[in-house]
Amino acid sequence: MARIVGGIGTSHVPAIGAAIAKGRQQEPYWKPFFDGYIRAHEWLAEVQPDVVVMFYNDHGLNFFLDKMPTFAVGAAAEYRNADEGWGLPVQRPFAGDPALSWHVIEWLVADEFDVTTCQEMLVDHAFVVPTQLLWPDGGCKARIVPIAINTVQHPLPSPMRCFKLGQAVGRAIRSYDKDLKVLVLGTGSLSHQLDGERAGFINKSFDLMCLDRLAHSPEVLTDYSSLDIIEMAGTQGVELLMWIAMRGALGDDVTEVHRNYHIPISNTAAGLLVLECVRQPATGEGLRMAWPASA
Ligand code: DHB
Ligand code: FE
Repeated sequence: MARIVGGIGTSHVPAIGAAIAKGRQQEPYWKPFFDGYIRAHEWLAEVQPDVVVMFYNDHGLNFFLDKMPTFAVGAAAEYRNADEGWGLPVQRPFAGDPALSWHVIEWLVADEFDVTTCQEMLVDHAFVVPTQLLWPDGGCKARIVPIAINTVQHPLPSPMRCFKLGQAVGRAIRSYDKDLKVLVLGTGSLSHQLDGERAGFINKSFDLMCLDRLAHSPEVLTDYSSLDIIEMAGTQGVELLMWIAMRGALGDDVTEVHRNYHIPISNTAAGLLVLECVRQPATGEGLRMAWPASA
C-alpha cells in the first residue's frame, strides 16, 4: 500500500525563484533563508519520496475570477509552467501521476468532497518555487499530484474544511494499492499582506504559534475562520490554509524533523516545517465512508 512518509510546509514567494535564477543563495540577504533548507535536503535524500501530493494556491495563472474552484485536483500526465508576469524562467514540465490522481479524486468524491478535476493545469510559482527549494538543480524526480485551494476569490474555504480535506486526502493515499512513498506538501508564506493599508504586515508571534500547533496540535487551528487568519496573518497570510491541509493528511503520529522561520523574504514571513510520519494510521482508521460500497 502507499505510505505517507511525511509532510513539508514551505514558502513559495516568486522572489525566491528570481534569487535562484540569479544564483544569489550565498548573498547575506538570502543565505539564512536558503541555509534553512539544508536539513530538508538531507531528510528528502533519506526518505526518497516517489510521489508528492502538493496543496498549493493558484494566483490567477490557471484559474481566474470568472471560474474559481474551491478545491481542484490535477489529473494530468504532466504540468506545464508558464510566465505569470514575474519574469521568472519557465521551468520544464513536471511529471504527474494520473492513476494516483484519479484514485484520490474518486475517494474524495465518495468522501463528500466534490472537487473540480483538471486534466490540464498550468502551474504557477506556488507549485514551482517549492520544488526548486526542496530539490535544487532540477533534482525533483517525484511525480506530482497538485491540489489547488482557492485563496483568491471569496468565499474561501475554512481552516476546518481544509484540515478535513487533508484528512480525506491522507485516507485516499493510504488506501492506494501500490507500494509508493508519498510526501505531502503545503506551500505558502506565513504572515504577509501585499497591498492595502496593512501592506507589509507580519505577525511573528502568530506565525510561531502556528508552527507549534502544526507540529503538535493542528486541530486547534481549525477553531479559526479564514477571516480570523486574514486578520491575524494578513490578507495573503491565509495561505496558511495549504499548511493546514498538508497537516491533515499526516495523521496524529508525527515528529518534527526541522523548522526554519525567517523575516523578511520579499514582503513575507518565510517558513519551513518538515514533519515525519512515525506511524501510519491503520488502513481505514477514521474512515467515515464505506467505499467502494460493494467491495
Ligand atoms: C509575494 C508573496 C506571495 O505569496 C505571492 O504569491 C507573490 C508575491 C511577495 O511577497 O512578493
Ligand atoms: Fe502566494
